[in-house]
This record gives sequence, structure tokens and C-alpha cells, in this order.
Amino acid sequence: MTKITAAITGVQGYVPEYVLTNEELEKTIETTDEWIVTRTGIKERHILKGEGLGTSVMGAEAVRGLLKKTNTQPEEIDLLICATVTPDYFFPSTANLICDKVGISNIASFDIAAACSGFINALTTGAMFIESGRYKKIIVVGADKMSAIVDYTDRTTCVLFGDGAGAVLLEPSTDGNGLQDFILKSDGSGANHLIQPAGGSAYPPTHETIDAKQHFIYQEGPSVFKFAVTRMADVSAEIMERNNLTGEDIAFLVPHQANKRIIDATANRMGVGAEKVMLNIHKYGNTTAATIPLCLWDYESQLKKGDNLILAAFGGGFTWGSVYLKWAI
Ligand code: UT7
Repeated sequence: MTKITAAITGVQGYVPEYVLTNEELEKTIETTDEWIVTRTGIKERHILKGEGLGTSVMGAEAVRGLLKKTNTQPEEIDLLICATVTPDYFFPSTANLICDKVGISNIASFDIAAACSGFINALTTGAMFIESGRYKKIIVVGADKMSAIVDYTDRTTCVLFGDGAGAVLLEPSTDGNGLQDFILKSDGSGANHLIQPAGGSAYPPTHETIDAKQHFIYQEGPSVFKFAVTRMADVSAEIMERNNLTGEDIAFLVPHQANKRIIDATANRMGVGAEKVMLNIHKYGNTTAATIPLCLWDYESQLKKGDNLILAAFGGGFTWGSVYLKWAI
């Protein structure tokens, strides 16, 4: 029997119009463009403005574009998965809301929460439905409105994050392209290093939690940095090794965009030159679940059928992992 693999057959991104530059941040907090650029690689980020507009608005924009670009009707979609840690609501899921906004109904749709590794977890989940032969067209979205949970008076976090969404279409392939392998990991003992402390069932919202700013992201930057550098590099090296790949074989590393220094360390470990590293952190910052699909969208014109890509991510949880796929379009 011919092996069915899950191939990305379309990619689309969306970032909101408003651009928050480092220069703008210099006016409100004690920071400099020079510090932000040298420590992170970020120049600017996009922010979703407007009352009542949540992550689903950006996800829906990306999905609408994806349907149009791939000439797909909403009725053809079998499943939509959305990776996000900034859902519009705890329930219903953002995936449900995106479907409704783009005219998809009566199919399964659900969210996956794995912070910055959300997209690779959602992508591999979707791929399993395709490989099983059960579903033929699946949309995987990575979307986050980080501005909703960022404290814009905290210079250690507010310079890092931005808003955005990316979406891919997954379809069965029998020509050997598509998803080849993946490694997904988590370590919940890392929770306190990177967390939104209140608002969930452990600490539901109270006046006290709001006064203590516990609904914003809390991050111990340097310790997260140490974990991220080693684990993202380890898991990328591991997936190359077990698939007999060298840096030469890789067309592009598609890394989560949290910090350019983490990306450089991962590329070095893999033996991949800077020209083969997808980078858009300078213009979007860290958009959490959206970074990887936004990279694929930005670099799409440089990709050829059969190209070997390694996707790699590290984030809150801790969660991390890598995906090896062959570009299929
Ligand atoms: O995507 C999810 C996973 N997240 C990550 O992977 C993020 C990992 N962490 C990082 O990217 C880095 O740790 C940061 C970019 C957050 C910070 O860079 P760092 O090189 O680790 O700097 P640091 O935290 O050691 O801070 C150095 C100094 C501190 O001052 P003192 O205590 O040495 O006087 C900070 O207060 O820089 C200060 N600082 C700033 N200065 C100007 C922190 N933020 C800023 C800022 N502007 N925005």
C-alpha cells in the first residue's frame, strides 16, 4: 500500500495594521532600540487594536486568505485546529469562532494550548488525522494576540511580543513529500518560569489578582533563555541525526522567533548557515503560536518542492520540539 503523508499545500498569514516600533516603546518605558535589537533582534511588532477584537479575528483573516489562495470551499474542510494561548474566551474555542467567521460549520474544530510550541503540536496532530486516511483537508492555525496579556509597563516582557496569525492547509500526499518525522516534548516543572499566573481555575480573577498584575505574562527571561538555547538545539540536532541529515541537506531551518540569539545557537548546532534560517522576528517580534506559519508565509516564494525543512520551537510549559518535513508545493 502507498504510504500517505500529510503535506502542507497552502500557507497564509495575517498581521494587524498597527505597528509598534522600538522608538515608540522608548517613549513609554526605560529602554533603547539598541538594547532591544542587540538582545533580541526585534525592531517592531504588530498590535491588534479595537474593542472586542480577539485572536479569532486574525485567525479568520489568515484562513479566509488561505481558502481563497488554495481555491478551497469552506465545505471541503474536514477539521480546523487552532494553536493559541490567547483564546478569545476560555470557551468556546477560538477554532470554533474562526470556523464561524469564515463560513465553516458542522466539522470538528478545537484549540491546542502549547504556548510557543503550539503550532508544531497542532501541525503534527492534524497530520495524524491525514495519515490515518480519515480526513482529506485540514486547516491548522497558529494565532496569538499577545498584546492582550502583556504589561506595557514591564520592560522585560513588553518589548518581546507581538500579534499575528498563520494558517496552513494539510492534505494527503503519496509522492513522499510532507511530514517525515517529529519530536515533541514537555516539562511542566518549568511552569513557574513562564506563566500567566491568574485567570485560570487555580487563581480565578479577583480584585487582588488584577491589582497584583497576575493576568499578564510573567517570564524569568534569563532562565527561560538557558533552557530554550539547549533544548531547541538538542531536539533539532536529534531529528537530523535520526533522519541522517546534515546541514547541507537542509533547505531551511524554520525556528520559533523568540530571540535571535536562540535562533543563531540552534542554527550553529545544526550546521546550517544564516542564509538558510527563516527570520522575521525583526518585524513581528514573538507572536507565540504564529511565528512558524508566519515564517513559512514570508519565505514561501523561496521554497521548492522536495526542500527539507526543520521546524523547531521552545516555549512555556516548558514545551519544545522539532518537525522534519519535505515541502510539497
Ligand atoms: O517564546 C517563549 C520562550 N521565551 C524565550 O525564549 C525568551 C528567552 N529569554 C530571552 O530572550 C532573554 O532572556 C531576554 C531578551 C528576555 C532578556 O535578555 P537577557 O540577555 O537574558 O537580559 P537580562 O534579562 O539578563 O537583562 C539584562 C539587563 C537587566 O538589567 P540588570 O538587572 O542587569 O541591571 C534588565 O533589567 O537588561 C535589563 N533589561 C532591559 N534594559 C533595557 C531587561 N529588559 C530591558 C529592556 N530595555 N527592554
